[in-house]
Amino acid sequence: MQSNYVRIFDTTLRDGEQSPGATMTSTEKLEVARGLARLGVDIMEAGFPAASPDDLEAVRRIAVEVGNGVDGRQPPVICGLARATRGDIEKAWEAVRFAARPRIHTFLATSEIHMKYKLKMDREEVLRRVREMVSLARSLCDDVEYSPEDAGRSDPEFLYVVLEEAIQAGATTLNIPDTVGYTIPEEFGQLISNIMRNTRGIENCVVSVHCHNDLGLATANTLAGLDAGARQAEVTINGIGERAGNTALEEVVMALHTRPAQYNLNTGIDTTQITRLSKLVSNYTGIVVQPNKAIVGGNAFAHEAGIHQDGMLKHNQTYEIMRPEMVGAAQSKLVLGKHSGRHALKARLASLGYGLEEAEMDVIFERFKLLADKKKTITDADLEALVADELYQPRELFVLDGLQVSCGTMGMPTASVRLRDPEGNLHLHASMGTGPVDAAYKAIDAIVQQPSELQEFVIHAVTEGIDALGEVSVRIQGTDLKQNAQKDLDQPRTFGGYGADTDIVVASAKAYLSALNKMLVATGRYDRVEAPAVQQVVAS
Ligand code: KIV
Ligand code: ZN
Repeated sequence: MQSNYVRIFDTTLRDGEQSPGATMTSTEKLEVARGLARLGVDIMEAGFPAASPDDLEAVRRIAVEVGNGVDGRQPPVICGLARATRGDIEKAWEAVRFAARPRIHTFLATSEIHMKYKLKMDREEVLRRVREMVSLARSLCDDVEYSPEDAGRSDPEFLYVVLEEAIQAGATTLNIPDTVGYTIPEEFGQLISNIMRNTRGIENCVVSVHCHNDLGLATANTLAGLDAGARQAEVTINGIGERAGNTALEEVVMALHTRPAQYNLNTGIDTTQITRLSKLVSNYTGIVVQPNKAIVGGNAFAHEAGIHQDGMLKHNQTYEIMRPEMVGAAQSKLVLGKHSGRHALKARLASLGYGLEEAEMDVIFERFKLLADKKKTITDADLEALVADELYQPRELFVLDGLQVSCGTMGMPTASVRLRDPEGNLHLHASMGTGPVDAAYKAIDAIVQQPSELQEFVIHAVTEGIDALGEVSVRIQGTDLKQNAQKDLDQPRTFGGYGADTDIVVASAKAYLSALNKMLVATGRYDRVEAPAVQQVVAS
């Protein structure tokens, strides 16, 4: 008898972090991992330890600090990815072993095209390698997952044989990836049913699904797989991931939650944490969530058309299938202002899930007072932007110490920028540009001297009103390969940055500096020591 519990396996920190520009510092990864633990994921894939010493260290830190429980909860399983090689598997084990519930996830492709061109292995060799490497992983760890990469395009008859081999070698979870997002729901559901029917010993394993979104079908395919009997879904926050991304956690969870009669499946996810984690991941990666994105987009609960608004006023279920508060998207009506004290601010932050140390409260309270002088009412969204801007940043190697711009129609836009370098020295530079942001970025470049190209620049207002706080997300790409110091990559890497301020040029400069600071760490120009992570508590 199949249980109706679906394990949520989050891979934001591994497959998600593989998307261009999604690079996170290890402090950011730890913060996301804490958020995932509070969200209630069953398993988190914390990274790919063999990718670089930094990646291994980040996974190890998560295993130690999150893998032994957060806020007294049952610790999630902490998983490390490994290619099917001895070196990768040993590194994955080295990284996850300190978690209360470690898992090694190893993969080897099974499609003809991958075996012939990428692996240059025949079927026999693949079978032998799976047997040997799954056994090795199992000799180290009781919990082993095996994925036949590109299963969606593999010969099903060969898949059954490979999966049987993995089961005999000790795999406890068998994950079926649609690596290139090629399948369609009926087909993928059928593949899962066939695997369950034709693979000997599979009843003792958990079957998992892992879908990519190249045809926009990742969520539909995942649901079809669960309907066919899979009981683990591999997902990422906001659906970030390689190319068109992975299946979005929020979509699968809310589909199961909203349509219980259809699926009769449940998860352990605290859905009210979804929006906050979505924002955190978006701020850290610099990957902006499209406004019409299901569940977490800015417009997901907005009703613009008159007919819709009229319907909503009469009965919210006329146009709403989920309440925004179910995913933590409802904005509090309780606003703070100029006269609100430190105590009220602390209480509001705590109810939003931020348990700040006194020193952190000092910083946020000062920013709050400055903001309250400029803006009449301060909402939860403003507070979240302030916390993200002040506390959830990579170690600030270069800090913005001053900025002055002159722009408009009467002359060349000019910016004077003063930065403090990691040794505490101040540098001042003035530049001209096509606009104030361009001028400020040129001045920053002149001081920091780290060649990069701006790939994306997105600005948006946190709340309505002319006095709103502006949020800026940028993505920059390095123009030389030295920044790959820690990774064996032949493509320049991209880095995201975030900044918030009522002055959008200041927010833009902060976002650019935050991305540059990450790039500087990756080049090895500075050591990798980072500021301690912010502690959060769960809203009561
Ligand atoms: O998409 C994929 O095939 C993967 C595997 C490593 C599971 O991410
Ligand atoms: Zn994947």
